[in-house]
Amino acid sequence: MKTIHLIAAARPNFMKIAPLYHALKQTDWADPVIVHTGQHYDINMSDAFFTDFQLPDPHIHLGVGSGTHAQQTGRVMIAYEEILMNTPPDMVVVVGDVNSTAAATMAAVKLGIPTAHLEAGLRSFDRTMPEEINRLVTDALADLLWTPSPDGDENLLREGVAPEKVERVGNIMIDSLEMLRSRIEAEQLFMTLGLTAGEYGLITLHRPSNVDDRETLEKICGIIGNITERLPCVFPIHPRTRKNMETFGFMTRLEALPGLKILEPLSYIPFMSLVFHSRMLITDSGGVQEESTYLGIPCLTLRPNTERPVTVTEGTNQLCTPADLEANVNSILNGGRKTGQKPAMWDGKTAERVVASIRRYLS
Ligand code: UD1
Repeated sequence: MKTIHLIAAARPNFMKIAPLYHALKQTDWADPVIVHTGQHYDINMSDAFFTDFQLPDPHIHLGVGSGTHAQQTGRVMIAYEEILMNTPPDMVVVVGDVNSTAAATMAAVKLGIPTAHLEAGLRSFDRTMPEEINRLVTDALADLLWTPSPDGDENLLREGVAPEKVERVGNIMIDSLEMLRSRIEAEQLFMTLGLTAGEYGLITLHRPSNVDDRETLEKICGIIGNITERLPCVFPIHPRTRKNMETFGFMTRLEALPGLKILEPLSYIPFMSLVFHSRMLITDSGGVQEESTYLGIPCLTLRPNTERPVTVTEGTNQLCTPADLEANVNSILNGGRKTGQKPAMWDGKTAERVVASIRRYLS
């Protein structure tokens, strides 16, 4: 049996390891081991995803918690190195671009353990984003780089990565969605919230560039106020965003908006059920850009760039600034809806391709 560590740390990681865990579990040669670094620890940021995706409790928990970037990265490296030295796996799989992704990669590669990155090659070309640094470090070091789209391959080859390390496998997030589609469709959270299908917007915001600066966040809150006068919106608030809203004193104003429903962070199934029936999405998340493209729902991304350019060139995603967000919302409401197509290999079969790739690599 080959032991494969699957590193999961933060909310966007749990749905990425789930299809792979279940696919590896079905083989007679792989023993998938879930390593939770503890970067996200709240029930609705972590445990609820394990329940939704029918994952077992993490086999290994590093319990690193929150901290500065160096603290978080350092704590994961120290704790994970000890595990790797005592019980080295045959392969480590890291996903996405959070601090724990880069930290686990550095710890494993230095001990000579084969390390693979799922969702490799994405680049925003914006080094003020902590995730861009994590992507660069992870992709420079990992032995196997699984990309979701052709831009990923191109970025890696341009950076001098050996072509034999790169394999396009498609988008694992689509496997996650298809895996739970029937349960998502059965959930009707919008009704419980008193909303009508196709007549509400769904907002998610958590990027430091949008929510850590008082002036920017105040501007965004004002725009949300204007938008909700035309379109009722739901806003499940990320802990980072809520903390800043409260510190800056914006929460009361936001809660008083009649067209806005503020919720705690949601787990995958209820969140995706809101996505399925929404008129449009307003977000700065990476995953939501992909999910909206796959589902053909208009998405306005409040960022100057995206590491997922196919969602703009092929999908329904549009980049926005605080200055033009409201006009873009109005344009969609007036019928100016961007249409798109599903990118190649976003087909729910990515986990299968990854399992085949691991098997080839390890034999
Ligand atoms: C992290 C990832 C980001 C990802 C996001 C998804 C990095 C650099 N960033 O950002 O790429 O899109 O997760 O959510 O890895 N907190 C809680 N409960 C939790 C976790 C965090 O209250 O379970 C609060 C803490 O105050 C913490 C803050 O949120 O300091 C930020 O958490 P952190 O993990 O540092 O970054 P995210 O903003 O969640």
